[in-house]
Amino acid sequence: MLGVCGGIAAYKAVEVCRRLVDAGAFVSPVMTRGATRFVGPATFSALASERVRTSLWEEAEPIPHTFLGRNADLIVVAPATARLIGAYAAGISSDLMTATLLATRAPVLLCPAMHTEMWEHPAVVDNMATLRRRGVHVVGPGTGRLAGGDTGAGRLAEPEEIVAAAAAVLAAGGAGAGASLEGVTAVVTAGGTREPLDPVRFLGNRSSGKQGYAVAAELARRGATVTLVSASALAVPPGVKVVEVETAAQMDQAVSARSGADVIVMAAAVADFRPTAVAPTKIKRSNGVPEVALEPTPDILAGVAARRRPGQVIVGFAAETVSSAEHPGAGREELARVARDKLAAKGVDLLVANDVAAPGVGFTYDTNEVLIVDAAGARVDVPLATKEEVARAVVDAIALRLAGRHTTTATNPDTKENR
Ligand code: CTP
Repeated sequence: MLGVCGGIAAYKAVEVCRRLVDAGAFVSPVMTRGATRFVGPATFSALASERVRTSLWEEAEPIPHTFLGRNADLIVVAPATARLIGAYAAGISSDLMTATLLATRAPVLLCPAMHTEMWEHPAVVDNMATLRRRGVHVVGPGTGRLAGGDTGAGRLAEPEEIVAAAAAVLAAGGAGAGASLEGVTAVVTAGGTREPLDPVRFLGNRSSGKQGYAVAAELARRGATVTLVSASALAVPPGVKVVEVETAAQMDQAVSARSGADVIVMAAAVADFRPTAVAPTKIKRSNGVPEVALEPTPDILAGVAARRRPGQVIVGFAAETVSSAEHPGAGREELARVARDKLAAKGVDLLVANDVAAPGVGFTYDTNEVLIVDAAGARVDVPLATKEEVARAVVDAIALRLAGRHTTTATNPDTKENR
């Protein structure tokens, strides 16, 4: 279902509709009354495979919202206005679109568009945080020229981004979920590296390695041939070959020796700096406070990305600290911004980011809350879940890229409802 709300960006929903149909989707458009003031229903009728609905009361089915809600594999709302976001967050069903959103169990992808002042209003910020916490997926808004001629945040995501995000959501929780990876080779790194200072001490970090192990286990479960380059000592997942390493240099060597793999997942927390020299004997307290000079370690991920061959899927991880008690909702957007920057800087296909300052997230916990961004602009928000569930979402995103499904196009002339 494609929900269209009343905002000037409704004209862009026409392009979203066309691209979804081209990609092989059966599209049922639902327009709010406001939307029909911007675009005529006839425009969507001409493009969509299913008929256009504009009212809870004038439809052939007696309860159109449950019909639509049950039949949808995915609901995309583009543009999603402040009113729709508020009603959805509050659980208010005042029209066909809000009633369907409450009646469905399908994943929902919201594509907000509004003026910057509205997008930044505390009510909208809180409502978005509530919806994200409930697992609603969000793409955009972008920053750019808005309807009044001014510039700022609130611009509807581009149609190609919306379609890519829709494909990613379906892959993570629906149609593409659990895709087989038979015949695929993968290298996964896990754990925190240790950089020795002397024979008994090292510089390390808090990474447990659990998330990397869960990704390796999930890849193997799907049939991939997996080598886990590990700097931690957890139980080896079934069918996974482990290469144990300790330092960033050893991890670099182990990964470089296998850098032809179809998939490379750098889940390890690699030390960015190491002592320039390792003391040959234990540094003695009685000799006074030592001065430790540091030097950078090789950036393993950037290295494999720079030497990549076509068709390879390279995945980076980023543990960030963006959360603050005052702005819990804004933290997620900041995390997304940092993730996109890191994805571009490292030249990778997918970047999995988490905010380790948030409760229950990341190091030492058995749970994690991540967002996955890809080079095509799509974003999947995985709400707080076990590391195994997060691994499934990550591997679904990998499978989607391996299959090149985000670029699939096919025409789909007949309708689903008429079958
Ligand atoms: N990584 C790597 N080699 C390093 C450091 C990091 O391969 N020497 C990989 C990690 O495994 C992870 C990704 O790079 O997949 C991001 O690591 P991060 O430390 O967040 O990146 P940095 O480039 O160090 O960025 P920052 O400036 O935020 O520390």
